[in-house]
Amino acid sequence: MTRERRILDVDDLTVVHQAGGRWGNRRGDTVAAVDGVSLTVDAGEIIGVVGESGSGKTSLAMAVAGLGRISGGTVTVSGVQVSGRLSRAERTRVQVILQDPHGSLDPRQTVRRGLRELRRIHPERTGWTTDEELLAKVGLNADLLDRLPHQVSGGQAQRVAIARALLLRPALLLADEPTSALDVSVQAQILRLLLGLRRSEDLAILFISHDLAVVRAVCDRVHVMLRGRVVEHGPTAEVFERPAHEYTRRLLAAIPGRRPLDPADPAGRPVQVTTASVPGGEP
Ligand SMILES: Nc1ncnc2c1ncn2[C@@H]1O[C@H](COP(=O)(O)OP(=O)(O)OP(=O)(O)O)[C@@H](O)[C@H]1O
Ligand SMILES: [Mg+2]
Repeated sequence: MTRERRILDVDDLTVVHQAGGRWGNRRGDTVAAVDGVSLTVDAGEIIGVVGESGSGKTSLAMAVAGLGRISGGTVTVSGVQVSGRLSRAERTRVQVILQDPHGSLDPRQTVRRGLRELRRIHPERTGWTTDEELLAKVGLNADLLDRLPHQVSGGQAQRVAIARALLLRPALLLADEPTSALDVSVQAQILRLLLGLRRSEDLAILFISHDLAVVRAVCDRVHVMLRGRVVEHGPTAEVFERPAHEYTRRLLAAIPGRRPLDPADPAGRPVQVTTASVPGGEP
């Protein structure tokens, strides 16, 4: 890969939290939520981070987004090192999609007003498209512009959140459990959308999930996290077919057979996701 294709470079990152009562540890203790993690994401790649609850995925995500603590190591986005808190302008380079799509939208603002607000705050980044074109990119009809968040479904709200992220032309899209709150059929649609956007926009996506079936459906490479460390990484197909680490084998064995992405498949295999039905996706 040439240098300009490298979007994210996480090198030996450590995030240490001061534990408090709310986190179930004794006050005064420290937790190494991320412990020497290195990974890269190039333009056009979807790179997965998977691990059970508490393995440090969100702590990693927040550090990458410039919203959380960095205790050691470096995070570099498009050649610029992220450390501590970034200015508002710098933060737009990484856009975050979270689990609860409704929670990420202002309940009092129509989709159109929310977009107008973003355009007002970031005029230099948002002039490249119209609201209608932007919504079409994420598979939404322009009718939706005049709705409030509670007037759209969970899947539509997640598409709106993705559209808002795209409007700012991020170098990296960081998705932390983006489909975990959605119905299985809607999950598959959102994953297809992300696969299409990776291609049409040449987007770099860091995709975080506890759900191996979802990771298998979309990620080119995957990193398996256990207690803050990456215990295994590699091309997704390889890691899934020949897991080297006992923990990965346990995670794989725990994929519930009857909770596939394709509800019609009783074997529980994830749907073969293609970009065919995605606007802007390849035919
Ligand atoms: N702000 C914080 N203060 C103290 N401890 C924290 C904080 N955030 C996370 N932790 C601790 O760090 C560890 C990693 O948490 P993190 O939320 O990063 O894991 P996760 O993999 O995202 O989990 P989940 O799958 O439940 O979202 C856990 O032990 C957690 O209790
Ligand atoms: Mg998390």
